[in-house]
Amino acid sequence: MPTTIAKSPTTTTMMKMRAMRALVNWSDGPRLATTTRYVLASVAMTRNSGLRDTDPLPDAATAALGGRSVVLVGLMGVGKTSIGRRLAARLGLPFRDADAEIELAAGCSIAEIFERFGEHEFREGERRVIRRLLAGEPLVLATGGGAYMDRETRATIRREAVSVWMRAKLATLLRRVSGRTNRPLLNGRNPGEVLEKLIAERHPFYAEADIAVDCSDEPPDNTTAKVFAAIESWRPARRLSLSLSTGSYDVVVGKGLLARAGALLAPVLPQKRAVVVTDDLVAPLHLQTLLDGLAAVAIEARTITVRHGEASKGLATYSSVVGQLLDHRVERKTAVIALGGGVVGDLAGFAAATTLRGLPFVQIPTTLLAQVDSSVGGKTGINTSHGKNLLGAFHQPRMVLADTETLATLPPRELAAGYAEIAKAGLIGDGAFFSWCEANGAAVIGGDADAQAEAVLRACAFKAQVVGDDEREEKPNDGRALLNLGHTFGHALEAELGYGKILHGEAVAVGIGLAFQLSARLGFCNPADPVRVMRHFSEVGLPSEIAMLNRRISGARLIQHMRRDKKVQDGTLKFVLARGIGQAFTSSDVPADAVEALLRDAGCVD
Ligand SMILES: NC(=O)c1ccc[n+]([C@@H]2O[C@H](COP(=O)([O-])OP(=O)(O)OC[C@H]3O[C@@H](n4cnc5c(N)ncnc54)[C@H](O)[C@@H]3O)[C@@H](O)[C@H]2O)c1
Repeated sequence: MPTTIAKSPTTTTMMKMRAMRALVNWSDGPRLATTTRYVLASVAMTRNSGLRDTDPLPDAATAALGGRSVVLVGLMGVGKTSIGRRLAARLGLPFRDADAEIELAAGCSIAEIFERFGEHEFREGERRVIRRLLAGEPLVLATGGGAYMDRETRATIRREAVSVWMRAKLATLLRRVSGRTNRPLLNGRNPGEVLEKLIAERHPFYAEADIAVDCSDEPPDNTTAKVFAAIESWRPARRLSLSLSTGSYDVVVGKGLLARAGALLAPVLPQKRAVVVTDDLVAPLHLQTLLDGLAAVAIEARTITVRHGEASKGLATYSSVVGQLLDHRVERKTAVIALGGGVVGDLAGFAAATTLRGLPFVQIPTTLLAQVDSSVGGKTGINTSHGKNLLGAFHQPRMVLADTETLATLPPRELAAGYAEIAKAGLIGDGAFFSWCEANGAAVIGGDADAQAEAVLRACAFKAQVVGDDEREEKPNDGRALLNLGHTFGHALEAELGYGKILHGEAVAVGIGLAFQLSARLGFCNPADPVRVMRHFSEVGLPSEIAMLNRRISGARLIQHMRRDKKVQDGTLKFVLARGIGQAFTSSDVPADAVEALLRDAGCVD
């Protein structure tokens, strides 16, 4: 127990071992309650005594915290304790100082703990104390400068709290620590040199915090106001967790994610090395923001840029990308990050899946289509002269970062094409979501960021549910194959018109219209359903029927393309049909003459 530790230093092995056991044994087991009560009753110096006198609860900040604690991180001398105490008063939360709690439990000062047991034992105890404090009611916690360097402690803080990095320049820190004797890392050394080294070592870790606030020599109340305002305006990115048999990963959706990419990715990357694969249109728009975001947490990144467009999703570019990855001397732990649309995602993902038998992979989709569809689910691949996506692999990403800000630079036609996949999610299995699309589709395509984020999340959530249920598309019926609604027709149109001549989403929109018409002709759904579907696509500026493509298209050739599609099983064409809006199902026994008649009536020539 903390109280049994001898106050006066001793050199006998027995005493030392007992003290060390006490230091590392602040577990969160059954003794927690007693320990916690003891600590809370004893540490008046870390108590927020101004709690009762505070103003009414600050709603915006409280809402932003959502019941979580605030953890202040940053270098020694930046003022975590004094600002933490003031901040706690403003937030109406108790305040704790992790270092003070450790000293109390160990019965000696931190300097003595370092001297007697070394840094390793100190960190061990620190990890346990922070975990215990954050397991309780929300509070404001000031941590020691090295606490956030520990991977496990960072994970605990990420899970339980909102972290605030109090960032200060060397000169400010030097002024603050000069003359202090209670800093074990400074003892007997040149403070300037020590701090400079600590800045280089620790800032890349502090940069993983949720919020960064610049602190200078201003009065503490001003700094407190800045931290408070930063918490008030903080909006966490929305996350969706995808659970698969091989593990789970998050799809993170929100604004400004490229700039924070390093902070978001650091916890899931096995190594601080990455190669970003992008295309020549996306690179000048978004690459630097991403590279800066990675550099902030010291992720060393190289870049491979391919030509934009579907033609890059072929063997030649694939071979070139793999060659460049090897030139960059990637190791088994080096991550491949795809920054771009579905072409880059599929190509980079396949290169990641196959190079060195599989490299860690991250998707940063920058088209709407890629954000709602291609980046989620782990399908990667390239086209061959025999058809689309015929060479590929399942390779799940470690994380998907869908930054809605990147959509602002996307040409409107691409935005509309991506939207087809959003509406598709509703049409397959969520009628209410399709109704949402009818009400909000124009806003999504018009660039409304909130509507876009909502649409991306709901479409991804739907896809995640389907993929989680049938990861490798092995179910004989329904399952993941449902996501191919409109694709049998759509892929045939893409192959016939030439990849890139019609956008994938446009082809899918026409294909979905045809699939609903086929369903109605075969008596599965109400004839009003295809009318509703096609009207919605037209309203948002998408082609909804073959006639709108203004091309002479041969029905026979479309059927030939369909027979070459991967979805052909034992020579039978597989279609996704619908019993109504949001009620799709797979079918392998669609009569060929029904398809021929549909295509003829839709305006195809023989
Ligand atoms: N893996 C899957 O599960 C899956 C699912 C659906 C589609 N796909 C594949 O995805 C591909 C289509 O993806 P796509 O529609 O994203 O095409 P794309 O990758 O070709 O991107 C479209 C165009 O937009 C540009 N672009 C991308 N982001 C931009 C931005 N933020 N600002 C400005 N320009 C930008 C690109 O350079 C490109 O010219 C197809 O190859 C398709 O087969 C894969």
